[in-house]
Amino acid sequence: MKDKKIIFSGIQPSGNLTLGNYLGAIINWIPRQDEYNCIYSIVDLHALTVRQNPAELRQKTRSLLALYIACGLDPDKNVLFVQSHNGAHAELAWILNCYTYTGELSRMTQFKEKSQSHADNINAGLFTYPVLMAADILLYQTDLVPVGHDQKQHLEITRDIAQRFNNIYGEVFTVPEAYIPEVGARIMSLQQPENKMSKSDENPNNYISLLDSPNTIVKKFKRAVTDSERIIRYDEKDKPGISNLMSIYASVVGKSYKEIEEEFQGKGYGDFKQRVGEAVAETLKPIQEKHRELMADKGYLDNIMKDGAERAENLSYRTLRKVYKKIGLVPRG
Ligand code: TYM
Repeated sequence: MKDKKIIFSGIQPSGNLTLGNYLGAIINWIPRQDEYNCIYSIVDLHALTVRQNPAELRQKTRSLLALYIACGLDPDKNVLFVQSHNGAHAELAWILNCYTYTGELSRMTQFKEKSQSHADNINAGLFTYPVLMAADILLYQTDLVPVGHDQKQHLEITRDIAQRFNNIYGEVFTVPEAYIPEVGARIMSLQQPENKMSKSDENPNNYISLLDSPNTIVKKFKRAVTDSERIIRYDEKDKPGISNLMSIYASVVGKSYKEIEEEFQGKGYGDFKQRVGEAVAETLKPIQEKHRELMADKGYLDNIMKDGAERAENLSYRTLRKVYKKIGLVPRG
């Protein structure tokens, strides 16, 4: 069944997609479309763990699909689909809930953080979020999951759940590996470089949205927090602001930290920030143009969604049927 290895990953359609999402995840999806069978989801069910405005959620789901394509994912080569269009995700998540311990879920850092930031809505979905994520990945017999550093723990629990299930029922699930890039896996906030850049941040100066105008991008970089040393060198601990800008620049222009240090030797922070801003704006310009074109063609996006959902469903129901059989559910016939 497997002619090539399988990649699965996804992004929540909540908030504006940031440079962190792009450099931590999407940029690593693009070069693998020929070598792997790739499946990328817009994980709208995950987004429901936090209250969403329904009209905005619908708009952001379409916009995220357009961004996937605008960033370079070819809909003919990759399966691109909306998570809620494939019922298998919610079905397998329920089953895996019964093979996941509340103790392990309560250790998840994302759950602890989100419980603090949404103290008025600590719902059960927030708690079982990693189980739905495990279902997403395991349904497709995924080998590799390209994600940013913040998803490492969720990948570990996915592997634990898969191994636990396989130990009871035999080799049902492929046990997936995370792919976390060396540079770009932890893009930090521009104003508070000790926190990660997040699309749900209330202060837009903390993040670069993939749809920010070139002017806004350069301005946000110019305002980025740095330090008083005035030397451009990589030191995450003592120079988190500059190191963050260096990792952004490194990912965008493909230079090593050493090469960047040489490029900006004797130059000030002002020059450096300006250059990083311009480089990011240049990279995002063609993506923004393509996104605009795609958003104007509703029919095209609808067709991709429909086709993606069918392909995703076909692939995942093979796994789901096997799971149902193994655990003793009576086949519908
Ligand atoms: P989400 O939507 O928060 O983020 C999408 C991807 O972007 C990465 N990322 C970052 N990388 C570097 N620096 C940052 N500041 C940064 N912020 C976000 C994330 O690591 C992620 O790869 N739970 C997932 C969505 C998900 C998923 C899945 C991912 C649901 N099911 C199955 C992979 C496989 C999430 O909330 O990502």
